[in-house]
Formats: sequence, C-alpha cells, structure tokens
Amino acid sequence: MIRELSSPVVKTLISSLRDLNTDALRFRHIVKEITKLLLYEALQNSVFLSKRVQTWRGEEQHQVLDESSLIVVTVLRAGMPMLESVMETLPKITGGFLAMKRDEKTHESKLYYDRLPECEGKTVLIVDVMLATGGSLCDAIEIVKTKNPKEILSLNIIGAPEGLQKVQKNHPEVNIFISQIDERLNENKFIIPGLGDAGDREYNTPE
Ligand code: PRP
Repeated sequence: MIRELSSPVVKTLISSLRDLNTDALRFRHIVKEITKLLLYEALQNSVFLSKRVQTWRGEEQHQVLDESSLIVVTVLRAGMPMLESVMETLPKITGGFLAMKRDEKTHESKLYYDRLPECEGKTVLIVDVMLATGGSLCDAIEIVKTKNPKEILSLNIIGAPEGLQKVQKNHPEVNIFISQIDERLNENKFIIPGLGDAGDREYNTPE
C-alpha cells in the first residue's frame, strides 16, 4: 500500500523544500514537521495500551501507544532529522541506524554502517527523505527483515513512481507513507522535479 499525503499545508512545505532559498535549518525543520504527519498516518491503526496516569482528578487509566513495540530506523544521512522528529514525538521508542551511499556511477546503494537493535516481533519504521530508484529502501528492508520484525513501514518525504513500483514489487507487504510523489527519474536517477540532494541541503554540503 502506498499512501500519499494530500494536505495543501504539506504541499506548501514541499514547495519550500524545493526552494533553494530555504536554508539548512529551515529545510531540516520542514522535514521534521512533515515526518510527524507521516507518523500519525502510519500509526493510525495501532493498538492502544491502557496506562495508569496521575491526573488532576487523581489516578486514572488512559490510552497510550505501546512505544516498546516500535523501532525507528534511519537511513543516513538524509533521514537523520526524520529519526529526531519521530523520537521527539515518541521519546521511548528505540532508534536504529543504517548508513548507505548511492554510487554516483552505478546508482546502486552501498551499506557502510549498520547499528540495528533487536527487531523481533516489533513494528519497524524505516525513515528516509528520498525514494528515487528504491534501491536504498529495498536494501534497508532486506536487512531489517533478517531481524524478524512483525511489520515494516516506510516513511518518505519525496519519491518517484519508478522507485515506489520497485519497492512494491519486491516487498508488497511493506506499507509506504510518503508526502510527495513526483513525476519521474532523470537519466542520472535524480527525482524530477525533486529538491536536489536532501542530505546536502540539510547539512550545507558543498557540491
Ligand atoms: C539519498 C537518499 C536515499 C537515497 C535514495 O541518499 O537519502 O537514501 O539517496 O536513492 P535510491 O532510492 O535511488 O536508492 P544519498 O546516497 O544521496 O546519501 P546521503 O543521504 O548521505 O546524501
């Protein structure tokens, strides 16, 4: 399942990400804002736990998510603000890290760092800003799958139809929540119109 956000507020924020006058601080801020909306969508059907809460009226039972059943895995570097955003909202969930870099010539992603927690029986949210060819996400899903999670959800800011199709074909059970599906990939596998290199935009990396 692919779910694209449709809110005009989100589309306005996406246009700000495309704008080269948006500096790194604001870029990361917008990525974090949109991530929260994606998170709300992705966890829409989660099961509640009942928690004892000390309220102004005394002790009461109230509904909460079971944060111990959730893991957020970021694909560095662009996904870093997305992990921060998820953990600001749900501070008790566990974070995991995968680092991949797309080879500029072959366009294939290469894993260079892996720090995943135990995922057995958990819901794993993989967060990455861009889904271009889908290679990085497919690789990330395959690595996470070796750790036997209950389910895998993907949160992405922007993607291309080609990459989405690839992920759906290879991993149809993974639900993807994305804020913007753009037109296509170009010959260099950049998303068109896209927003440039998200990692570079977030961290002021010179070209
Ligand atoms: C970007 C992006 C994804 C990947 C998407 O990372 O953040 O991880 O490319 O491309 P794909 O769908 O074709 O695999 P990049 O390799 O530029 O690394 P960075 O995050 O360090 O900038």
